[in-house]
Amino acid sequence: MDIKGQHILSTKQFDRETLLEFFRLAAKMEKVLDSGKRGLLLHDKIMATLFFEPSTRSRLSFEAAMMRLGGKVISSADMMNCSSIKKSETLQDTGKVVSQISDIIVMRHPETGSVEKLASKSDVPVINAGDGASEHPTQGLLDVYTMWKEKGGLDGLTVGMIGDLKYGRVPHSQCDLLRHFDVDYIFVSPEALKMPERICDSLLGSQHEVKVSEDLEEVISEMDVIACTRIQEERFDNHEEYEKYAGVYVLNEELMKKAKEDAIVVHPLPRVDEIAVEVDNDPRAKYFEQIRNGVAVRMALITQVLGVNV
Ligand code: NCD
Repeated sequence: MDIKGQHILSTKQFDRETLLEFFRLAAKMEKVLDSGKRGLLLHDKIMATLFFEPSTRSRLSFEAAMMRLGGKVISSADMMNCSSIKKSETLQDTGKVVSQISDIIVMRHPETGSVEKLASKSDVPVINAGDGASEHPTQGLLDVYTMWKEKGGLDGLTVGMIGDLKYGRVPHSQCDLLRHFDVDYIFVSPEALKMPERICDSLLGSQHEVKVSEDLEEVISEMDVIACTRIQEERFDNHEEYEKYAGVYVLNEELMKKAKEDAIVVHPLPRVDEIAVEVDNDPRAKYFEQIRNGVAVRMALITQVLGVNV
């Protein structure tokens, strides 16, 4: 797997072999986490995290991953208001500048293509931690890693994606990764929030079965993976439009009775109301385990991008 020195802007950069190799490395990183010891692999490296959009998990998970391997972090959680962007600096200039003082940059921004803009002038690798409704490669990686780990592989699975499939960057990235495996899909969303055509086409082109439904109850029993997502309020033109879809799917105990006994439930979080709190105690709920997996996945990614031998 050679992603040394590369920007990680898109899930399209990964192929099947790279992914499988990468998952094995992430599993090794979980052992480092389990040991409770702080590694030293990245002791001489600095990560800059530049967040132009709210985040809890992604930013802290990147920072924890860096620190678990001995690295250091310089962080700005509110770049939109507290950086030179406020003084009209371009993203390109910010990229050039921050790359003079760090070894790797992690960035999130509400606009599609913004991370690529900053990366275009950066002298160090830049990792996309979410650009608008487009992509969120590391969340996709950690979700698919969780599926691979929990289900003992990906081939043969039926993955259900539920919620805002139009604006949700996470389901987009999940599809981009899963298309390298023999996976069937069930997309559950209101018509107005359905998966973009270009993604459906890319899956159909690779012989996957894609089923579309608006009714979760009708199809939940067919899913090996129940991948829920939040309706992305911040991407709607106005609150009234969002209100039409808020609360449209709620995974609760009743619905879980219809799900397969060995299904798993994943969610990138934060949740609003799409998974009832009562489901948290169901052993099939994996969304809190996912967070720890995310640290291991990011540890693996950072070492590979920085070209550090593990
Ligand atoms: C996701 C995101 O930011 O796209 N969250 C995350 O990174 N864990 C999902 C979301 O905000 O709904």
